[in-house]
Amino acid sequence: MTDQPDQTAFVKETPMVHSAFRKVEEIDWADWVMPGTKFKLLNIDAKSGGFSMMLQVSPGNVAPIHGHLGSVEGIITKGGFGYGADRGRPGDYVYEAGGINHRPDTDYDGMEMFAVAHAPLVGFADDGGIEGIVDAKLMYTLARDAGQADHITPPDHWSDI
Ligand SMILES: [Fe+2]
Repeated sequence: MTDQPDQTAFVKETPMVHSAFRKVEEIDWADWVMPGTKFKLLNIDAKSGGFSMMLQVSPGNVAPIHGHLGSVEGIITKGGFGYGADRGRPGDYVYEAGGINHRPDTDYDGMEMFAVAHAPLVGFADDGGIEGIVDAKLMYTLARDAGQADHITPPDHWSDI
């Protein structure tokens, strides 16, 4: 016996239906939307259009300018990247605010990170027009077409994919 009060008398513990864990190494890298980038889709949020993923970027890669409709949060796991003089390395947390446009560049040894996009990303064409929207639905489609989305259940209302 411990001195802890028995909270289960008041709060019912939810039985687990699915495992809370996922073996990330069992998901293969798939090509992402920008040159020199690969991803592993971990989850999607159909309500916000956001998603979570592992991202891998080739050494010395300069990303095309892109925008964020909502914030992105992440933890660098390998290599590094930055925005000019502002740079991150493994273990660093990164926050990209919603509403910003930018063009990050990757370090000499490439980069891997865990990232959560709270809303879609916007890719711009050379004339400033919108080239593409990277949302949860596109991410799911890319991962599924690469055979790497069996762990994700898309919502019923995505009946056109
Ligand atoms: Fe970004």
